[in-house]
Amino acid sequence: MAETDVPVITVDGPGGTGKGTVCSYLAETLGWHLLDSGALYRAVALAALHARLDLDDASMVAELTNSLTIRFRVAGADMATLLDGEDVTGAIRSEDCGSAASRIAVHPPVRRALLARQRAFQRPPGLVADGRDMGTVVFPDAPLKVYLTATPEERARRRHKQLIEKGISDSLQRLSANIVERDARDRERSTSPMKPAPDAIVIDTTTLNVGEVRKRVSGLVRGRFPGRPDIGRL
Ligand code: C5P
Repeated sequence: MAETDVPVITVDGPGGTGKGTVCSYLAETLGWHLLDSGALYRAVALAALHARLDLDDASMVAELTNSLTIRFRVAGADMATLLDGEDVTGAIRSEDCGSAASRIAVHPPVRRALLARQRAFQRPPGLVADGRDMGTVVFPDAPLKVYLTATPEERARRRHKQLIEKGISDSLQRLSANIVERDARDRERSTSPMKPAPDAIVIDTTTLNVGEVRKRVSGLVRGRFPGRPDIGRL
């Protein structure tokens, strides 16, 4: 099977919309590969913070990006992120790392440096790709593109709950401010801004619970890939 014949489901949108949860569910149930592209940007940001680089210096951050080895390893139900062999799964989830990721993500050479690495995830039997520009730039030919949205207030509330569950404490007020700032940066950057692809199906998850989001997206997957035996598992 040629790489480009391998089916891809892209799920884009801002953080706190339920993307991560629905992508893990799809990948695990279908037995497909999972690309958490945000983890790649976060790992680069963490390395840049450790190296005390100026996050606004596009060429220095791009040079660093090219020198890094970033790997994912399945760890139970979760995915561990390894940066030059070191497990950074927890470290990359902080709000500071998320903000730094959105700063380094504006640089075109950094995005270019990550493009081939992301496309390499398209391997049989299929790929579920989670991000901001999966449907617009990285996998523009994906047969199913989903874009999740939710109000900033609801996303801040979900994020707060998620962080508490991970043992990270942060104020709801600071999270809300970060969300507004990060959204603006992700939407307004000139390269690969966060937006739905013209052929994406947009779902507002503000009033939906995890099970309902899963059900809606599973319905779209079943409709898009009829007859594939793995889809029957959804
Ligand atoms: O999804 P997550 O919160 O982990 O992403 C962190 C940041 O990485 C985003 O705010 C965004 O700026 C950047 N990102 C991106 N393109 C992607 C995935 C993430 O620019 N495909």
